[in-house]
Amino acid sequence: MSKNISELSGRKGLKENLFDELGKLSQDTGTVPKEKLQKLADDFLIGVANTYGTTTFYDFLKPENQGKKVYVCNGSVCHCAGTQDSLKENLKTHFSESEIGEMCCLGRCHENSAFQFNGNNYSAKNTDELAEIVRSGAPATDTYNVRSIGEPVLTRAVKGIDYYKELLTKVFQAEKESVLKEIKDSNLRGRGGAGFPIGMKLGFCKAEDNDTKFVICNADEGDPGAFTDRFLLEQRPLEVLLGMVIAGYVIGADWGVVYIRGEYPESVSIIEAAIEDLSNSGLIGDGILGTDNNFHFKVIRAQGSYICGEETALINSIEGQRPEVRVRPPYPAQQGLFNKPTVVNNVETLASIPYILEHGGTAFASRGTEKSSGTKLVSLDSHFNEPGVIEADMGTSMKTIIHDYGGGYRVPVKALHIGGPLGGMVPSSMVDNLSLDFESFRDSGFLLGHASVICIPEDFPLVDYLEHLFEFAADESCGKCFPCRLGTKRAEELLHKASHDGYKISRELFDDLLDTLELGSLCAHGGGIPLPVKNALEHFDSELSVYFENN
Ligand SMILES: Cc1cc2nc3c(=O)[nH]c(=O)nc-3n(C[C@H](O)[C@H](O)[C@H](O)COP(=O)(O)O)c2cc1C
Ligand code: SF4
Repeated sequence: MSKNISELSGRKGLKENLFDELGKLSQDTGTVPKEKLQKLADDFLIGVANTYGTTTFYDFLKPENQGKKVYVCNGSVCHCAGTQDSLKENLKTHFSESEIGEMCCLGRCHENSAFQFNGNNYSAKNTDELAEIVRSGAPATDTYNVRSIGEPVLTRAVKGIDYYKELLTKVFQAEKESVLKEIKDSNLRGRGGAGFPIGMKLGFCKAEDNDTKFVICNADEGDPGAFTDRFLLEQRPLEVLLGMVIAGYVIGADWGVVYIRGEYPESVSIIEAAIEDLSNSGLIGDGILGTDNNFHFKVIRAQGSYICGEETALINSIEGQRPEVRVRPPYPAQQGLFNKPTVVNNVETLASIPYILEHGGTAFASRGTEKSSGTKLVSLDSHFNEPGVIEADMGTSMKTIIHDYGGGYRVPVKALHIGGPLGGMVPSSMVDNLSLDFESFRDSGFLLGHASVICIPEDFPLVDYLEHLFEFAADESCGKCFPCRLGTKRAEELLHKASHDGYKISRELFDDLLDTLELGSLCAHGGGIPLPVKNALEHFDSELSVYFENN
């Protein structure tokens, strides 16, 4: 990616943002008109190839999106639940085929039949419900279970502005170093998948000598099956935003960007309203609470690309560049947004910070296990009797979460895909032996990731699920390195032929493809997708071996 474009994009700061402008220009028709691409390029002193290259990358900006009025969820849970074909058929009585598009995971995994219409997300179980939604266009009520096992941290009762005023006063009175120490003492590890300690990341960024720094909240929750970030954004927005303000205080950043996926329109409006409340209460802006601390927010509505959840692609996205993954080093903490030191953290990680500052880092660290401290949110999909969001101490047995709190399975289930598309495929016979922490999953050959749980029903063919996974991986590849760009597509084709045309895949070739993806990919998108596939091949050999040559 071009460092010069980062600088040019940053000239106007965050108030006039190139990516934001592209999104606004696409609102009327679903894509950005060509003459406007030229004008925007001129305004930002870049070439039209850059603005064109950017728009053609995103599902909601590219020319093919023109004229779409309704989007059907094609995420993994809706796919396994089998609700979307009939939903699409029903939609055809209200919309022409060309007006119906697709979106990948609206986060309504607790009930499925999900679609986006008129800037709102809905689930419609039957034709009457659908007709009423299309007629009224009123926002939907969205209810799901929210429970905690033990004292809640992230699901604790909603706090009012006064609580945050008191907390922020206390934080600003403390030295930055001692605030950082509390966060380090908490041993909080990033909840976005990689599990990197946030205290270390803040420390690296704080040490950078630069007047301009940024905090980015990664609210791109693209893992199909995950809706815990959506819960926090919509039901605990102040915990997330104040976590960012405190992170900004520690590193010396005056600006925070909340990058929210376009598939979550309600999250965008709720966060915007919460920012307005904070501004009216004097908790953000210039000279917060009479101190010389400043903090401003920019909300960015993303435009439909999973890879923008990867932190360097996300930074390119905010800059209005084509969101390809960057080579590291330099890491964002040294050279991030507009080439300035930047911390990028997940919603759940940031939302834990207010609790840590109120109760102290050691109190947080006393929960969970030694290496995986605190509590973690888990999302359970519609195949559970009690779907929804569960908060549990790290280290809690998965058996407790699944059976005691999730109510067990509604249908016979053979496997659980946990931790997003790059997470492990856990046979249902093994899941009860796992505990909710990074180490337990890793030691058993799986991955905790963001801890979303997708059930694969007994009667759902695994070969189709693997094809679906590779179709997703190929669609969402940023295309920068060819093991991923080509390998994901070839794997999808092989599995499709095997599943539909009786083709037998060479196991040697397939294993080689998986190894090449794992070893040769630049980022964890291509590098991580083999994990669930290898798990499936190992644990479901009797079901999958028929699709492979006998050798
Ligand atoms: C393909 C891919 C997709 C990702 N998607 C997300 C995402 O949606 N949300 C997120 O917080 N992190 C995501 N990540 C991880 C981020 O790159 C980064 O590690 C994370 O935002 C850092 O925050 P944390 O330390 O608080 O977890 C993704 C990584 C990869 C490789
Ligand atoms: S692995 Fe895939 S997503 Fe990651 S950099 Fe390579 S092409 Fe892009």
